[in-house]
Amino acid sequence: MTWKQTTTLIPDGVQTLSKRVCCHVADVYPEWIEYGKGSKIFDALGRKFIDYPCSLGATILGHAYPAVVEAVTEQLKKGTLFSLSHPKETELAELMHDVFPSMEMMRFVKTGSESCQAAVRVARAYTGREPILCCGYHGWHSWYNCTTPKNAGSVKQDVTPVKWGDVRKLEELLVEKKPAAFILEPYVYEDEGRVEKWLKEVRKLCTVHKTVMILDENVTGFRTRKLSAQNHWKIKPDLSCFGKAMANGVPMACFGGNRDIMKVLESNCFVSSTFGGDLLGISAAIATIKVLRNKAAIEHIWVMGSKMKTAFNQAAQAIMKGEDIKCIGLPPRTHFIFPTAAHKSLFWQECLKQGIFFGHAQFVGYSHDLTDIDKTISVIRQAMKMVNKFWDKPQDALVGIPAEETLRLVTTPAPEQTKAMPDCKKCGKKHWTFQKCE
Ligand SMILES: Cc1ncc(COP(=O)(O)O)c(C=O)c1O
Repeated sequence: MTWKQTTTLIPDGVQTLSKRVCCHVADVYPEWIEYGKGSKIFDALGRKFIDYPCSLGATILGHAYPAVVEAVTEQLKKGTLFSLSHPKETELAELMHDVFPSMEMMRFVKTGSESCQAAVRVARAYTGREPILCCGYHGWHSWYNCTTPKNAGSVKQDVTPVKWGDVRKLEELLVEKKPAAFILEPYVYEDEGRVEKWLKEVRKLCTVHKTVMILDENVTGFRTRKLSAQNHWKIKPDLSCFGKAMANGVPMACFGGNRDIMKVLESNCFVSSTFGGDLLGISAAIATIKVLRNKAAIEHIWVMGSKMKTAFNQAAQAIMKGEDIKCIGLPPRTHFIFPTAAHKSLFWQECLKQGIFFGHAQFVGYSHDLTDIDKTISVIRQAMKMVNKFWDKPQDALVGIPAEETLRLVTTPAPEQTKAMPDCKKCGKKHWTFQKCE
């Protein structure tokens, strides 16, 4: 089988945009990954790499994690899908409710895009309103896709993106559009210090304007401290979406939340799929969540992720010429910034040559151990020296074609809001309209 055959049969040769050849250093990165074990992946030539994109954030425990393999194998032997419900659906729902108390009722789906589409539909059905505000990436379905540059074929809808942290704009849009929902990723690569403030302001504004607050925790779920942004920052969204790491790489996602809102699914709104009750995903999710809860996995992930982030930034300071290189984001999902695609691609190329597979985000997981992280740090330092050497002409050392950015752009938070806070017409002081005069 050749890569040419693949691209003849499969558009771009991939099922996911960020797996495209153009998103890596073409001619340097492997075409295929054949298998994975723990924190390592192996290509068709038998080369071993420490994996950092980790299945785009899905394999949080590592590839082929034994407890998950066992749970799936056992279920496989007993049948995977029936035409009535199975008790494991309730077992998982109870576990989810226990971990995320805001999930009073929920339904299972297979992908994060479905979870967001379903939550948006439920919010529209509950409020009887149509417009949607969004912040972040929410999958490929038309309601969201129509807001992106790659939107041919999607029917245009009244959906308006809001910049992360822009409370003033959010308030304006809530007044102007009277949206059914504001769906947002709690954070992408923003500083931890500002996340709580932003989420609390969003919560208050959505309540005042009777807009359903949907927290898209497809990435932040199971990865943030206390297993989610909502738990960590004590925010109760009306609806939430979970997927990605929920079943450690087995297709599984979920949306749910406030019971009154979710009850529209027992009335005039439906979200239904043949594979919603797929027992492989459900078994994998139960096993994954139990490991995450019982083994202090999140603490391990944060320690490993912080170590790598700090070492990257220290190396950037010590070795690199410019200030333009840094690692941003919270420890379980970080992103490297370089001044140009060529600089970053040269860095990736040099890391790959030494067995480190980087992608647009690093999702450090439970299987990354100190040996992996120490090796990675040593390779990062060597790769930076190479980038430094070719700083003025990185192309001269690049074997392949520089990587393009993925569709997900790094969000640029709005500037601190204090300056933009309006003068209150009643008391003359600066405060948001949802806050009472002092
Ligand atoms: C925050 C967020 N929501 C939704 C999705 C869509 O999930 P999926 O690709 O599983 O459909 C993604 C995927 O990257 C995501 O990052």
